[in-house]
Amino acid sequence: MKKVLVATEKPFAPAAVDGIREVLEKAGYTLILLEKYESAEEWKRAAADVDAMIIRSDKATAEIIGAAPNLKVIVRAGAGYDNVDLEACNFKGVVAMNTPGQNSNAVAELAFGMMLYHYRKGFDGSSGSELRGKKLGIHAYGNVGKYVAKIAKGFGMELYAFDPFVDNAVIEKDGVRVVEKEKDLYRTCDFVSLHIPSNDQTKKSIGYELLSLMPSKGTLINTARKEVIDEDGLMKLMEERNDFNYLSDVAPDCRQAIESKFPGRYVFTAKKMGAQTAEANINAGIAAATQIVNFLEKGDTTFQVN
Ligand code: 3PG
Repeated sequence: MKKVLVATEKPFAPAAVDGIREVLEKAGYTLILLEKYESAEEWKRAAADVDAMIIRSDKATAEIIGAAPNLKVIVRAGAGYDNVDLEACNFKGVVAMNTPGQNSNAVAELAFGMMLYHYRKGFDGSSGSELRGKKLGIHAYGNVGKYVAKIAKGFGMELYAFDPFVDNAVIEKDGVRVVEKEKDLYRTCDFVSLHIPSNDQTKKSIGYELLSLMPSKGTLINTARKEVIDEDGLMKLMEERNDFNYLSDVAPDCRQAIESKFPGRYVFTAKKMGAQTAEANINAGIAAATQIVNFLEKGDTTFQVN
């Protein structure tokens, strides 16, 4: 009987675990649940004889992959797979997958939650501002970017997007203006919402040079990864410009400095929670379990990333 380990330091909603179990049991598999684990050792022990794993942002290092000799497939229930050591997977012949699009709406909704919270001064009773008529720049027009555009239209925002990997026609069809140069997105928009992946090309790519182009009261919203921000550049700009704001899911490493120096100019979530909704967990969890069954039973490698 095949064994599938769900290893999540930040657990899925219970309904998602039920859904995953149902898919796996229907295929005759056994679910092993490891939630809120406290060490890599604990995860390694649980992985010792599993055929497949489902994870979230959990760091699937070479050590973890190496501790699972029967492992054939690992699915990151979500979009970003920067937490999976793909070289280790390749070395061990393990297929790595993600579940693109399944949690994107949740992430997009959080971006607006943070914008509203910030623009309405944390709902502290004082007078705030409205999103309507403001210019929103979408940096990378993938699944989350698309949802952001859809929601922003409801707010009556003016939309711009920069994504050299997406055809202009795809962006324009959604009623979003294409910006050809990254700098122009930042120069034009009151808000820029980041949706780039974290990789060798993008790490620390958003810093002083780009952010300093933003207009007065410029606000960066980061529901992507903290690693894509050059925090020295961000700090320098926040020191220089007392109108610049940073809203981020996953607080930066310089959280304490920002919180002590720049009150009212930041919003940070307690934990990475863009995808932390029952709906997103159910969608991504069930997709992950289904992909595992389809791979192990039929060799289906849809959404393989290595
Ligand atoms: C993703 O890449 O899918 C999101 O960042 C969600 O990550 P999480 O599963 O850790 O919440």
